[in-house]
Amino acid sequence: MKKTRVGFIGCGGIAQYHFGHFDKMKDKAQIVAACDLIEERAQETAKRFGAKAYLDYKEMFAKEKLDALFICVQPAAHDGMELIAIDKKIPFFVQKPMSLDIKYAKKVAAGIKKNKLITAVGLQCRYCDTCQMAQRWAANHPIGVVTAHRLGGMPMVWWWRVKEQSGGQAVEQTIHDFDMMRYIFGDVVRVQSIARHGVITGVENYNVDDASSTLLTFKNGAIGTMSTGCFGNGEHSIIAYSPEGKMTFTIFGSYKIEQPHMKIEGTASNDYGQECTETFIDAVRGDIPADEILSPYSEAMKSLELVLAVNKSIDNGGQPVDL
Ligand SMILES: NC(=O)c1ccc[n+]([C@@H]2O[C@H](COP(=O)([O-])OP(=O)(O)OC[C@H]3O[C@@H](n4cnc5c(N)ncnc54)[C@H](O)[C@@H]3O)[C@@H](O)[C@H]2O)c1
Repeated sequence: MKKTRVGFIGCGGIAQYHFGHFDKMKDKAQIVAACDLIEERAQETAKRFGAKAYLDYKEMFAKEKLDALFICVQPAAHDGMELIAIDKKIPFFVQKPMSLDIKYAKKVAAGIKKNKLITAVGLQCRYCDTCQMAQRWAANHPIGVVTAHRLGGMPMVWWWRVKEQSGGQAVEQTIHDFDMMRYIFGDVVRVQSIARHGVITGVENYNVDDASSTLLTFKNGAIGTMSTGCFGNGEHSIIAYSPEGKMTFTIFGSYKIEQPHMKIEGTASNDYGQECTETFIDAVRGDIPADEILSPYSEAMKSLELVLAVNKSIDNGGQPVDL
């Protein structure tokens, strides 16, 4: 069967991660077009994959016949590429957070639905092979409270420290942890968040919140908290407490279940990043049904709405925001 022709918009840090995945599926997909505003990045990618380099994605759309597209630009740079892809019926994989503008994201979501387009979002932690076990435990135990935290570190790309560009910690990084909470415990219907400054000093061009804490109300009645900051050593955990015991889970798939007469622990054993990228390509090729994609745009929208609601609550001095 012919190779799937793939284009990239954005050839920075996360694109390199996906490039590694493409190295492992040379038999089924080929990167044929690479676009970046930074010419060197587009050229390097083009050289690596024998692709054509572009500086302007509109020119790339006009000249290339693509079977699939990867959109790997920073959060505030989604300025229409998804809409062109929808117009041209090109399935796309887009990185989280898919936009900071909820109106734009909703327009994209509506276009995807209307055209029944295959999409995926880079919420790769859903592919950890321990998630189903965590979901089963959560479904079979009455969850009272869920407490979670994620601390740092601070990505050093220029745009990250500017809240208007990245959305800040809760939106840009902790979306993975909020998404995992939703994936295991179900939808969240209300958030209330507060943030603080004054901990991080001496970082230039910095206006994101240093830390925030969020109260979460889940649809199933569970309540929870998420505390997050852009300092510290990258600690993560999500702990669910039930009268029958507790489960600790991380977005990288490690888990510990502690009950009165039982203690089990383990970690994900699969290459979940590869699986996330490859599942999308397999669905585009028709090798698997599209519903095997664990993070389509429509599903990721709920996590995007959640993290943007966190920022809205922070801006409103901790007022609740209903989802
Ligand atoms: N899933 C994950 O675990 C994960 C990890 C890291 C980053 N990300 C996400 O990936 C996205 C990109 O992050 P990054 O670290 O790769 O950033 P980056 O700055 O390294 O790369 C972004 C690239 O996009 C290019 N770009 C921006 N606008 C463009 C346009 N209009 N046309 C062509 N190119 C354009 C920039 O020039 C840059 O090279 C962010 O949304 C980030 O949150 C996801």
